[in-house]
Amino acid sequence: MEKRLTSQDMIKMKARGERVTALTAYDYSMARAIDRAGVDMILVGDSLGMVVYGEENTLRVTMDQMISHGSAVVRGTSRAFVAVDMPFMSFQVSVEEGIRNAGRLMSATGASAVKFEGSHTELAGRLVECGIPVVGHLGYTPQSVKAFGREIVRGRAMEERERIMDWALKLEEAGITALVLESVPESLGKQISEELRIPVIGIGSGRFCDGEIQVCYDIMGLYPDFTPKHTRIFSQVGRTVTRSVKKYVRAVKERTFPGEENVLRP
Ligand code: KIV
Repeated sequence: MEKRLTSQDMIKMKARGERVTALTAYDYSMARAIDRAGVDMILVGDSLGMVVYGEENTLRVTMDQMISHGSAVVRGTSRAFVAVDMPFMSFQVSVEEGIRNAGRLMSATGASAVKFEGSHTELAGRLVECGIPVVGHLGYTPQSVKAFGREIVRGRAMEERERIMDWALKLEEAGITALVLESVPESLGKQISEELRIPVIGIGSGRFCDGEIQVCYDIMGLYPDFTPKHTRIFSQVGRTVTRSVKKYVRAVKERTFPGEENVLRP
């Protein structure tokens, strides 16, 4: 069995110019399939609020949900670097509360790292001191949906572009392992990737980041509510599920399932 990837492995991948592949996962079986396919980093994203629980945004996700889904994903994987998202308001109130909640996520799930959104450089530094690897997340940060409104692309204006660049450098200085960069112009994705030593993992940030992350349900056609422009549907798993279930329904109705081979012997 291959050893689980560490923070150092992620940084070495960037140093040798190898792209980092990343996907979200939320449960044991999907995480197992994704891990076996060789994805380097699996994020137990708080996007689960939307794609698993059908919420409108990520704001109602709780620590208990992240622990439950995070543990399942860790159990289903052996190679991937697994990062678990810190939910809304689990780290914004104070650095101390952030450390306590990050520690709880790490010890309860067995994850490789925590991820949080925004420019919380002091929290990042303190977690690294505690031995907790951190993945940052800048650009469009979905927990700020109410503040951002309908504007998805961040860093179009020079002032915001410079602010994102500055935060990225400060988070790297604080010791984070990798940075997720969401929905910024391609030129900014390229610039930040060139300036940072750690891998910059893009989503909707163009072609030149050090790696790419996507929501697994998006690339499999399993989240019909909305397909973002930055995604590509690699297979229509949602349609396959519907076709399979239709066959199952027909077989039960027509009494061809269960069959003789399914009968348990006394
Ligand atoms: O929660 C999530 O799935 C994420 C990805 C979109 C990067 O943060």
